[in-house]
Amino acid sequence: MGLRGFILFMTIVGFVFACKKDKTENPPYGVDMTGTSALESYPQRTGNADSGYHYLIYGDYVRSGIPYNAYIAANGTASNNLLNRTSYSANVPYNFNAVKAPNGVRVVSANCLSCHAAHLNGQFILGLGNSISDFTTDQGANIPTVDMLMNLYYPSSQGNPSPEWVAYEPFRNAVVATGPNIITQKAGVNPADKLAAVLAAHRNKTDLTWSNAPSLNVPSEVIPSDVPPWWVLKKKNAMFYTAVGRGDFSRIMMASSILTIQDSAEAREVDNEFADVLAYLFSIEPPVFPETIDANLAMEGKTLFDQRCAPCHGTYGYNESYPNLFVEIDRVGTDSLLSLSNYAYTEFVDWYNSSWFAQEPHSAFLQAGRGYVAPPLDGIWATAPYLHNASVPNLESLLNSSLRPKYWSRDFQNPIYEFDKVGWEYIEHNSGGSKYTYNTDLPGYSNSGHTFGDDLEETERQAIIEYLKTI
Ligand code: HEC
Ligand code: HEC
Repeated sequence: MGLRGFILFMTIVGFVFACKKDKTENPPYGVDMTGTSALESYPQRTGNADSGYHYLIYGDYVRSGIPYNAYIAANGTASNNLLNRTSYSANVPYNFNAVKAPNGVRVVSANCLSCHAAHLNGQFILGLGNSISDFTTDQGANIPTVDMLMNLYYPSSQGNPSPEWVAYEPFRNAVVATGPNIITQKAGVNPADKLAAVLAAHRNKTDLTWSNAPSLNVPSEVIPSDVPPWWVLKKKNAMFYTAVGRGDFSRIMMASSILTIQDSAEAREVDNEFADVLAYLFSIEPPVFPETIDANLAMEGKTLFDQRCAPCHGTYGYNESYPNLFVEIDRVGTDSLLSLSNYAYTEFVDWYNSSWFAQEPHSAFLQAGRGYVAPPLDGIWATAPYLHNASVPNLESLLNSSLRPKYWSRDFQNPIYEFDKVGWEYIEHNSGGSKYTYNTDLPGYSNSGHTFGDDLEETERQAIIEYLKTI
């Protein structure tokens, strides 16, 4: 019997014993549920997971990029084929697809996996958020060089741009427009929320056509966030840390393609494929903890977890449940900036809610709220750093706030995962100097709040951590 099976067995045994006891002997531990409310669920489209996986790693949801021939000439073919792909996509790194632009030129375009896949302990895990990406420089800084090479190899003729240039231009324009606006102060955090708002500012809300001049005022700050794992989405009623994403999830996700789509007709085609992508995301299971687990300690941890944590995070294993709770900022006490940005970016929220994305059938909308979702904790052992802003390096310090480092860095070249503390090995610093040092003094980067583990005895805390390795 595997460990999950063992825990399941013990849960049933525990359940039988619990039923025999006089209930008044064992009153439930009371978690104060003030400031929490249940999130409403919305119907989702169904689809085919295999087709969704195929579309994700071969599909043309982003139809503009560097011409394939130029890309291979400059970079050579990828040294490994992590996704075991065939045809042209086999020759490019896992975070790119080789697709045809609308005019038939084959291009290398970005897929979702730059942010939504990562290596952990030498293992490649699709769906794990990439927490070692570096957005501290302007992604558009290389564009002048690329432009020059494009003009050299694919010159215009008689005043007409080459087909290769036409296939490259939407990508180029998007990078130029967004690059300077999505620079984070530190490596290891993600600016995707800001990226979405900046792209919207350049799109006509009805037909989604592009204009180089922005039409919305988007505040200049770049609020950092972590990248959540894909395997928990199947339990969630609302998307994103702040629960701002409501309605049809496929519609919300396909918005990534507004990086380069031409218009709403193209968006409709991509949208049709995304029901399958959602089915694929719903099919992903969390990775299994790779080291040995103390099963007795984990059982003790389960009892404590079910009393103190489950009212917000749900129960796991036998008779699983998840309450889908939204927890107000004052109650959870974590950095408020990301949550409040939904109010600060009113023009973006209004744009979205009256845009093509909000149209039936399968409409989606954004709903601001002051707080964060208490997320499902499946596979939580693999998803350090913790909290929505990636401010806490491991589970031990998440559950004991006095241990949280104020300034800390990982080895970004060769990051090491610690399986006892469950999270990244880090070095503590006296100040937040380099871009690789997480600085909790910066706006949006605070590691405050979620002190729900602080009053545990040390042995209880270790038991809960042991249990969290099993779910
Ligand atoms: C530039 C990095 C980036 C790219 C590219 C990207 N994402 Fe994300 N994604 C994020 C970040 C960051 C979040 C969390 C944002 C938040 O919650 O505030 C996120 C959130 C999500 C979520 C919500 C998960 C949850 O539990 O609420 C889904 C689903 C998702 N992305 C799917 C996709 C798909 C599908 C693609 C490709 C079409 C994609 N993403 C491309 C960075 C990215
Ligand atoms: C009152 C509700 C509540 C209680 C009780 C609670 N949590 Fe949380 N938890 C949250 C919320 C809300 C978040 C998200 C906070 C954020 O990201 O800013 C969270 C985040 C977390 C995270 C980080 C998730 C991630 O993806 O980074 C872990 C791990 C966690 N909680 C474990 C626990 C454990 C273990 C307990 C019991 C000791 C517990 N929580 C008790 C509401 C709660």
